Amino acid sequence: MKKIAACIGGGVIGGGWVARFLLHGWDVNVFDPAPDAQRKISEVLNNARRSLPALADVAMPEEGKLVFCDSLELAVSDAQWIQESVPERLDLKHKILGQIQSHCSDNAIIGSSTSGFKPSELQEHSTNPGQIMVAHPFNPVYLVPLVELVPSVKCPAQSVEKAQSILTAIGMKALVVRKEIDAHIADRLLEAVWREGLWLIKDDIATTEEIDDAIRFGFGLRWAQMGLFETYRIAGGEAGMAHFIGQFGPALAWPWTKLMDVPKLTDELVQKIADQSDRQSGKHSIRELERIRDDNLVGIMRVQKDANWGVGEMLREHDQRLTELVPQIDSAPDLSQPLTMYQGKVLPAWIDYNGHMNESNYLQVMSIATDNFMTFIGADGAYVESGKSYFTVETHICHIDEVKLNKPLEVKTQLIGHSEKKMHLFHSLYQPETGVLLATGEHMLLHVDLEAGKTCNAEKPINSKLATIFSHHYSLEKPKGLGRSIGC
Ligand SMILES: NC(=O)c1ccc[n+]([C@@H]2O[C@H](COP(=O)([O-])OP(=O)(O)OC[C@H]3O[C@@H](n4cnc5c(N)ncnc54)[C@H](O)[C@@H]3O)[C@@H](O)[C@H]2O)c1
Repeated sequence: MKKIAACIGGGVIGGGWVARFLLHGWDVNVFDPAPDAQRKISEVLNNARRSLPALADVAMPEEGKLVFCDSLELAVSDAQWIQESVPERLDLKHKILGQIQSHCSDNAIIGSSTSGFKPSELQEHSTNPGQIMVAHPFNPVYLVPLVELVPSVKCPAQSVEKAQSILTAIGMKALVVRKEIDAHIADRLLEAVWREGLWLIKDDIATTEEIDDAIRFGFGLRWAQMGLFETYRIAGGEAGMAHFIGQFGPALAWPWTKLMDVPKLTDELVQKIADQSDRQSGKHSIRELERIRDDNLVGIMRVQKDANWGVGEMLREHDQRLTELVPQIDSAPDLSQPLTMYQGKVLPAWIDYNGHMNESNYLQVMSIATDNFMTFIGADGAYVESGKSYFTVETHICHIDEVKLNKPLEVKTQLIGHSEKKMHLFHSLYQPETGVLLATGEHMLLHVDLEAGKTCNAEKPINSKLATIFSHHYSLEKPKGLGRSIGC
């Protein structure tokens, strides 16, 4: 079934939702009466297209179809997920949610982006209140994974689970808030910091820039990867969290803070903040700042991906899900030809400063082709689990033509030779649309007993599959470059 999302309101947040769904293959219907909504959404989409795929080490699904609808009714009627992102006014949200519910399917999930209202407040006046829940995202929605999913007691558990699994499938971390509260979890924390920042400016203690420096050169770096409590656990040293609270907890009651009060936002204070902000950041346009922010976010998240930590662990799991969406290799290919063992495209994360694919990613593509070949002959995950596998002992890669961003790639694999303990593969990497040969990879693999750490004979079914393939491949023309060492 085609997956269709409706985004009602396409501003800063609605536009981000459009991008997140669209780039995960959903068709998206948008309704926003603002005359410049299409232009703004296109600009958000451009930012999303250059940054979101850079988080993935596998191909994203084909982008869905974007439709700007003339009416809310048209947008929601066949949608499975409806995301309300209109301005933060309860009367407006009630009106829009009422209109949505008169025209949408009873099975659709309605998420509201509200930063502050509780789901039970949004559900007032609704005849089907359990269909509405808060799905509060963070800007930029297409990159930052967190979404606070806040149900009220009227939301059935299976709707919450369904919502969670849809959000997970579009690469988000759905944090289910166990008890509704104004402003959910994250904005309560952010508002506490923001309130204190406003006081510091009002009292001439610090400028906007100095406050931002205190965050980005300091605790902001820690928060991005360990949050508040894990960071403080370490700050307690070997004595741990209880010691930390014993040492610093009493300070919370000292008169350091004005956290409970909000400075009056007089015209003078607002102008002071705006002027300081202009001096701090006015040299960049908002779109430039967005791109700088997006590149930094991608970098911060990719570092954690390498470490398989925090948000990075989630990104790895998401790659696994995305892989399952991509068509798998043919399980019964024509053996009389080299076998198609990889189909994909050049990912943004693979591009170097010259706009070409990094050297390491040639090897990555070749090794995916080798893994697929191993699966094809039966040396699959279960075989490895059983304690046997193949190890690559020698590789020669030849770079033949330019490989550029987003270009489709295809690897054809020829079995050059095999024995009970060895297999010799030759991969040819093509641009499938033009048939241009881009690179070749020649690989020798030994069959090993993983526990003993020694070579051993492959299991019989694997050897006989290799023999069948080789009975076809031995008469194929030997690929150009076979057996080549570094040439001049
Ligand atoms: N900006 C943030 O950082 C942020 C973060 C998380 C959640 N939110 C929440 O997201 C929601 C939207 O905030 P935003 O920042 O995107 O605001 P925004 O002003 O950028 O966008 C609101 C959009 O709603 C459209 N709109 C107004 N009336 C409409 C109607 N009747 N039908 C359809 N569209 C209509 C407007 O034309 C506008 O494009 C709010 O509830 C806000 O609390 C905002």
